[in-house]
Amino acid sequence: MASKLVRLSLITNTNRIFARIANEWSIIIYLLILVNVVPISEAISNCTLNGIRYLCSNIATTTDFPLVLTANVRKVTLIGTNELSHSFPDERFTHHTWSKVSELSILVFTNVDSIERMFLNGLEELKFLSVSSCTDIHTIDKDTFSFTPNIEELHFDGDTRLHLYVVEAALTDKLSNLRFLSLIAIQGSENHVVLGKNFSNALLGKILTALDISRVNVIYVEHAITQDVFGNLKYLNVSYSTILLPRKLNDISRGLAPNIELLDITGVRYLLLNSMIEGEYQIEECFLDLKPMYFFLQGIFEPDIQVNLDVIVRSDNCYTEVPKMLDFSKNSLARLNITFLGNSSAHELETLNLEGNKMEYISPHLLSICRSLKNLDLSNNLLMKMQNMDDFTNMFTENKDLEIIFLRNNRLTFVPSNLFVSNSKLRIIDLSENELIYFNLYLYFVENLALINLRMNRLKDLSASMMEQFDSLLWKQNSESNQRTNVTNVLLKHFQDKSLIGKRYRYGYNASEDIQFEELHSMIPLYVTIDILDNRFVCDCDTLVFMEWILFTKIDIINKTVLSCKYGNNDEYLSIELLQTVQTNCRLAVRIGFGVASSAAIIVSILTFVIMFHRRCKSDRRNQDLQNLKKEILQENTHFEFLMFLSYCSRDTQIVEEQILPSLKRYLHETFNTARDIVCTGADDFVPGMRIIDEIHRCINKSLVVVPVITPAFLQSKWSQEECVAAVDRHRQVVILMEKNTDTSSAIVTIQNLIWQHTRGTWSDNEGVFVIRPSWNIICEGIIRAASEALRHYRRHNLIEPAEDNPLVEEMV
Ligand SMILES: *[C@@H]1O[C@H](CO)[C@@H](O)[C@H](O)[C@H]1NC(C)=O
Ligand SMILES: *[C@@H]1O[C@H](CO)[C@@H](O)[C@H](O)[C@H]1NC(C)=O
Ligand SMILES: *[C@@H]1O[C@H](CO)[C@@H](O)[C@H](O)[C@H]1NC(C)=O
Ligand SMILES: *[C@@H]1O[C@H](CO)[C@@H](O)[C@H](O)[C@H]1NC(C)=O
Repeated sequence: MASKLVRLSLITNTNRIFARIANEWSIIIYLLILVNVVPISEAISNCTLNGIRYLCSNIATTTDFPLVLTANVRKVTLIGTNELSHSFPDERFTHHTWSKVSELSILVFTNVDSIERMFLNGLEELKFLSVSSCTDIHTIDKDTFSFTPNIEELHFDGDTRLHLYVVEAALTDKLSNLRFLSLIAIQGSENHVVLGKNFSNALLGKILTALDISRVNVIYVEHAITQDVFGNLKYLNVSYSTILLPRKLNDISRGLAPNIELLDITGVRYLLLNSMIEGEYQIEECFLDLKPMYFFLQGIFEPDIQVNLDVIVRSDNCYTEVPKMLDFSKNSLARLNITFLGNSSAHELETLNLEGNKMEYISPHLLSICRSLKNLDLSNNLLMKMQNMDDFTNMFTENKDLEIIFLRNNRLTFVPSNLFVSNSKLRIIDLSENELIYFNLYLYFVENLALINLRMNRLKDLSASMMEQFDSLLWKQNSESNQRTNVTNVLLKHFQDKSLIGKRYRYGYNASEDIQFEELHSMIPLYVTIDILDNRFVCDCDTLVFMEWILFTKIDIINKTVLSCKYGNNDEYLSIELLQTVQTNCRLAVRIGFGVASSAAIIVSILTFVIMFHRRCKSDRRNQDLQNLKKEILQENTHFEFLMFLSYCSRDTQIVEEQILPSLKRYLHETFNTARDIVCTGADDFVPGMRIIDEIHRCINKSLVVVPVITPAFLQSKWSQEECVAAVDRHRQVVILMEKNTDTSSAIVTIQNLIWQHTRGTWSDNEGVFVIRPSWNIICEGIIRAASEALRHYRRHNLIEPAEDNPLVEEMV
């Protein structure tokens, strides 16, 4: 108090007196410093200055408290040991350098049991005070805060012996600027915390916008005070506390906290009596008035139950606002089959967290009403149970704004390649820690892709189509030089760390510090990056293209230098030396192959011989195969409607319709003894009005064999390329028909590989004389054998992994 008087007189007195008193005063300070010279130098060794921040740790005695600060210090943190005596020292903050401090944190003084009246004297500019983790504090002088009238944010967190009534008494009639009060774990496990009349009195005249009373044993809310206390709240954190509300929740939820923006009720256990909820519900009235922007509801159901929802909700003329962010993670939701009828929408929802829920089914309808969804976390669930359903393929079709999708650890063995065809704004796709053995996604439309995470799957290589897409994506991104802002970085961080969102409501929250933090730990790269570590890559003749791509692509591959693959029986780093070794070995093998069969004639005769041989030796097998095929294709309700899909470029329509299609159809229809169309073509079977890409996939999916008609025009056509890629991706058998002397050197890799791997029929068309070799008989035999092989593969696969009582098996792997 004395120093305060001195300073008051400084202002009112003349210059001469000013100089004199100032000198005397600095002598006093000098003496104080001398007196304390030993302890201060000890304390200094524990203190660090960083810009406007000053941190002292290991404060053991009262004299360790710094007396004088450097002029620019604004934020001070003092951390104790358990040696300091029972109360804090008086008047340690009275030097004028303390008067400019705006934030003070006093932490971990575990022996101190009281805060006395003069302790905070001198901190008149203080805006933020935290006296936290002082586990013995139980008294606060009720006039303590008269010295710090400007406090806006006050924390007594983890002060487990402190009772709420003590805080109430200290706050009454003080701190009229208080906005944020945090009392985490107050009163320890003792008694109920009662938010009642006294609490209301203590806050009288203050506009409290944030209250954190989490980790409290039981909070009892008295009805009378709800409006006074909750009326202005924007932030309410009652996580991990048990709350007793005065009446039924329905009654008071209306208008309880009309201005709430963030509500955290994580871990507030709600005992669900019936975990199977089924049937139809009509919502007459919109009862949900509680509409925080950020809503955290993590872990509110008992972990050992399973919540199954199969409900239809009707809500006519009801507009319910929903949060911008909803965290429903770790809640044991196994099935979320919710269908909204009427004009429901959840436009505001941008971030949805359903991580860690044992989820086996989520209805596409539920996601489809979330039109603005940007971030979705479905990690740590069991979505492999629905991976074969159409509902999985269609899950995200309405989420056109989706940017970030986490599907980590769902035991997926495959993802439909058209899973994200509607989501052109995707930036991050996380499929790590699944069981993918094959991976292909259509990403031609996704221009801002930044990261695909495929870490810890079971991939042997990457599909040709995937490699091509990555390269073309990089080219697009580079050429258009997309500048990404930090905004999404922060968003991603927020998505994962809710305390950052909470921070916004705090005094002195500085968003640019978060952004700096983000830049340091940036997870979003500028251009497309892939993470494919810890898979089961193989380096052999079949994966040469993959090896080469990995080594020479310009795509960023995370930790490429430690990427390993199986070579022979060992795991080796995928290096240029390894590539050369494998290349040499494979060339040797190829040359031997060429020596034997260097001319087309020999290939054809071998093919003929092989087919004849098989026909003789295995005519029984052939008959059986044919019967099976007939059963599959000619009966109703089987998976495959067509024996084959004839893929050709529209510029070749004439030759196909005049020469190829009639011969194929004649032979095949005779063999199958049917008039039904078993050859699928774009011209006859694509449904008008649909998207071409969808139709290609539908037809290939319904056909056992794909027969590309390769011509120079075919090799140029984007759709024809798409068809070949789709055939490879879906593991369809391929039988090639190719025009003689077609230059294939400029074909895409997928087609080159097909041509390289398969024998084929070759035709020439000289002035109307159409000659094909081998004969149509033999080519059709080849198609039938390929179809049988495909069917066997399909059935084998479905025996190993029966689709969970779901007739719509979409895919074969
Ligand atoms: C979803 O729930 C409806 C009834 O609400 C039911 O008829 C339908 O079969 C369920 N869908 C799935 C895939 O279980
Ligand atoms: C709410 O309180 C809990 C526990 O004290 C904390 O972990 C969490 O980050 C808080 N929530 C928000 C949104 O700040
Ligand atoms: C916010 O943080 C940045 C980076 O640390 C700093 O440069 C800036 O001065 C801070 N702004 C305020 C108002 O504290
Ligand atoms: C890359 O490898 C290094 C060393 O093994 C490791 O420290 C780093 O975290 C890895 N980076 C990523 C993104 O996995």
